[in-house]
Amino acid sequence: MNFEIINSNIKEITSDLEIIIVLNKKLKHKFVQDKKLLKKAGFTAGQDEICHLISKNRLYVGAEGLKGAPIRSAVATAVRSLIGKKYKSVKIATYLSHPRCTASLRALVEGVVLGSYTFNRYKSNKTENRIENIFISTEGYEENYEVTIESMAKAVHNGDISATATNFTRDIVNTTPDDCYPEIMANIAEKLAKKSSLKCNILKPKALKKEKMETLLAVARASRHKPRVIHLAHKPKNPKAVITLVGKGLTYDSGGLSLKPADYMVTMKSDKSGGSAVLGIMKAVSEMNLPIEVHGFVGAVENMIGGDAYKPDDVLTAKNGKTIEVRNTDAEGRLVLADLLCYAQQEVKADYLFDFATLTGACVVGVGHYTSGVMGNADEPKDLVVKMATQAGEMATKLDFNRHLKKTIKSEIADVCNISNTRYGGAITAGQFLSEFIDEAHSEKWAHIDIAGPAFVEHAWAENPYGASGAGVRMMIRLIEKLARTIKEH
Ligand code: BES
Ligand code: ZN
Ligand code: ZN
Repeated sequence: MNFEIINSNIKEITSDLEIIIVLNKKLKHKFVQDKKLLKKAGFTAGQDEICHLISKNRLYVGAEGLKGAPIRSAVATAVRSLIGKKYKSVKIATYLSHPRCTASLRALVEGVVLGSYTFNRYKSNKTENRIENIFISTEGYEENYEVTIESMAKAVHNGDISATATNFTRDIVNTTPDDCYPEIMANIAEKLAKKSSLKCNILKPKALKKEKMETLLAVARASRHKPRVIHLAHKPKNPKAVITLVGKGLTYDSGGLSLKPADYMVTMKSDKSGGSAVLGIMKAVSEMNLPIEVHGFVGAVENMIGGDAYKPDDVLTAKNGKTIEVRNTDAEGRLVLADLLCYAQQEVKADYLFDFATLTGACVVGVGHYTSGVMGNADEPKDLVVKMATQAGEMATKLDFNRHLKKTIKSEIADVCNISNTRYGGAITAGQFLSEFIDEAHSEKWAHIDIAGPAFVEHAWAENPYGASGAGVRMMIRLIEKLARTIKEH
């Protein structure tokens, strides 16, 4: 898709269709030309409400305000309604929330790219987005905004990169387990590195054994698809900071011998969402060429059953020497992450360490389908994640650790148990399990982001389609962009 900023009034631009955002139900605004028709159609301009006046070539959509989130969602919903239609070019006016602030322009661009996402791989009849050109008029919704063309162009560019990376992640997550297994995830990473300046290192079972990643290998053991650990690195000269990202990449989670009930197993192809998010973030970071050193680690593993499967009752030794009593093979993500976090910290001494995982159903029970749970030992990285997620239009909330819940993952026979002895607070106890594998130096720099809720939802919501949303991608790009702007040179 091409975006073009045009320095003229919206009326002077020719296109197949115009999208008009109606803010705060202000149907009297000068941009609303079809007041009577809209009234007749019962259009009230509520958030994401659309009204397509086909013969006028105008598509109206409501938004609750000029902030990024409502604009992104409204534009995405409007564009999603055009999938399969034949419009090739669309024009839209500029929506800017503050003088010199291009946040809502960026949200608008993200909305277009995110809303035009389709996943057609398994369809015989492919309904694709046909929009090729988006013309953005510099004519503003409100007068007198002094924004330079350069800053507008930058907002468009970065919005495009960040939303395209989100769609890249969505594609990986939506791909079925038989088409996307650990080796394929590694291939995707290698291909990404080849096309960019990213460095890529893939660890196969022999290397994983050498690195003493026995818990990751145990989870992988019953699968015919051998595990991979992926390490991608973006290494600019004189980086302002170093960030490590770690992602759970369970290409399928059957539960293992603690087999999931049939209804719960469906959608478990999405258990690679954390790892897929890391791949998307790395893509964007390299395309934006941010002055931050970023390392992405993905643990790509399939959790299956079989004669060689790891078992409840096993005791495993993680890379850092801690022993883990396995009482449920469906709590496999934390076992994979235990070793992977140790490996990532051994390889890179980072200023921030973030992990992304569809770790617990409990997180979905606790905060619902649309919100990520943010955990860790210290407030600073958690607050930063929540703040940047909000700015990026993702919902995230803190879930605090406490010493009482920590006791529930004690084991009688090993250092720690892979499940808690209570059925409550499962997202937090899983996070506290991970904290056992964070070393002293990273203790206050780490945040764990449980994306089990938003990563995969079986209906469209806001700018997200049915299926994979690409949760984690936009929030982390924002965060890294912010560090690039605010941190002084080392
Ligand atoms: N991948 C699941 C968590 C999950 C559940 C993600 C629903 C997305 C949607 C994870 O590996 C898992 O099975 N967790 C168990 C942990 C339990 C055995 C302590 C769970 O949440 O039930
Ligand atoms: Zn599981
Ligand atoms: Zn899992």
